[in-house]
Amino acid sequence: MPKALFITFEGIDGSGKSTQAKILAERLRAMGFGVVLTREPGGSPGAEEIRTLVLQGDPDRWSAETEILLFTAARRDHLEKIILPALEAGRIVICDRFADSTRLYQGISRGDLRNVVDKLHTLMIGREPDLTFVIDMDPAKGLTRALSRQTADERFEGFGEDLQQKMRVGFLDLAKEFPDRCVVVNGDRPISDVAEEVEAIATARLA
Ligand code: ADP
Ligand code: TYD
Repeated sequence: MPKALFITFEGIDGSGKSTQAKILAERLRAMGFGVVLTREPGGSPGAEEIRTLVLQGDPDRWSAETEILLFTAARRDHLEKIILPALEAGRIVICDRFADSTRLYQGISRGDLRNVVDKLHTLMIGREPDLTFVIDMDPAKGLTRALSRQTADERFEGFGEDLQQKMRVGFLDLAKEFPDRCVVVNGDRPISDVAEEVEAIATARLA
């Protein structure tokens, strides 16, 4: 069934984005849709190389300004090589994080750089998702879940719970800023309950 739709999952670390993105991809595939499941930072070979640079090492390894350039470079490659070709082929693209993460993590975490993020986005990306799930979650619980995974990609988790709290409020504000595409989903429930709600919203958009 060809049906191009660009879906993103956003929210704080450990809110359940990857888990829900994977379940939604499986369910839509089972319904007969062509689905590409991908993630940021990364998603294409070049962008995965940039992912290692930005997610590993000391929290103060890069300034917020340098990060904006790195995340946007990774996104541009991902968009050119994976996202746009899949949408043009009539597939559903499900992406774990996208430009909203840059608007928040680089835009408000260390001073107000939102305007810089938006300008570069307009210049180099110029594409918004059709549907964004903002998974809302208590920051302390999210951080505990995220750290329990024990991966090397923990540079941002090293910024601690204060950043998570700021990001939670930021994501809820962002959902109000883009009400046409954003839906806030309570992530502090069993995985299956969250998945049911996500599936219902996605299939309604596809109908
Ligand atoms: P994110 O991609 O938002 O960082 P993940 O999907 O990787 O989050 O989930 C982080 C951890 O929490 C994983 O170990 C996952 O199995 C677990 N998890 C995800 N959703 C839930 C949930 N609703 N309830 C309990 N644990 C969850
Ligand atoms: P991710 O692997 O999705 O982490 P998690 O599964 O814990 O949510 O993303 C890693 C980190 O990268 C996350 O802490 C947020 C950060 N990030 C940015 O700072 N800017 C961005 O544009 C993106 C896409 C991610």
